[in-house]
Amino acid sequence: MENYKYMHNPAFYDLFSLKSESLEKKQQFFLEYSKDCENVLEFGSGTGNIALPIALQNCNVTCVEPSETVYNILLTKVIQNPLLKERVTILPYFAQKIKTINQFDLVIAPNLFPLIPEEDQRLEILLAAKRNLNPKGIFICTFFSKNMYANKEKKLTGEQYIGERHYKQYTEYKIENHEDNNIFSVEWTFEIATNGIQDDSCYERFLCSCDTIDEVRSLMKRTGFKIVNEFSNYDKATYEEEKNDGQIIIIAKHDS
Ligand SMILES: C[S@@+](CC[C@H](N)C(=O)[O-])C[C@H]1O[C@@H](n2cnc3c(N)ncnc32)[C@H](O)[C@@H]1O
Repeated sequence: MENYKYMHNPAFYDLFSLKSESLEKKQQFFLEYSKDCENVLEFGSGTGNIALPIALQNCNVTCVEPSETVYNILLTKVIQNPLLKERVTILPYFAQKIKTINQFDLVIAPNLFPLIPEEDQRLEILLAAKRNLNPKGIFICTFFSKNMYANKEKKLTGEQYIGERHYKQYTEYKIENHEDNNIFSVEWTFEIATNGIQDDSCYERFLCSCDTIDEVRSLMKRTGFKIVNEFSNYDKATYEEEKNDGQIIIIAKHDS
């Protein structure tokens, strides 16, 4: 359960991800699925980039987030907005530990399973999702395929100017020495310059795992979920192993 500490610098993460086009697509995707929902549960909600737009749209959202640094950023955003304060609940726990707290219309876990390589932990999280999903509810979770790290050398992935401060984010993916090559590291370097002179930097490294579609199907089946859609991206392209860019997005229901 160590990987929940991966985000030591969540403010930097927000600085770059909040401006990205890919986040907008992802938000639209989840807003569409939550349109007619009364209550939504998110496991691993991070700084709230998906949960908070959903809450602002129309429903009550319960966020499960065990990392203290990330939790504090999320809490700050929630308490500053009266509507969010009314609609958002934040639970500082591991998803595995969540008992039955409600029957949610929608349970989501975007970008959580790549941080959880252990199969027993994954199964526990899936079972926690299942026991909190109403009989007609929808469960959405995502995984990484091997294409996520293919040919991704260190490159500039974000740049922001705030006043005289210039912020840059570099990202590098590296395959770890693992027999199946299904574990890779993500390294983020953040550099900050004032008037062209670099005066600060920080670094973050965490491990991610990737899966094949068959591994994902097996996990879902073993935990009593029926997959209704498999997408390659947030434009809803049907999943194809070879053409895929790195995401496996699963839409599932109770297998009754
Ligand atoms: C990559 S972020 C995803 C944030 C958000 N869901 C999104 O897609 O933008 C993953 C989050 O999951 C949290 N996390 C890690 N392990 C967890 C666990 N066992 N249960 C719940 N959350 C966990 C991390 O602290 C982190 O904030």
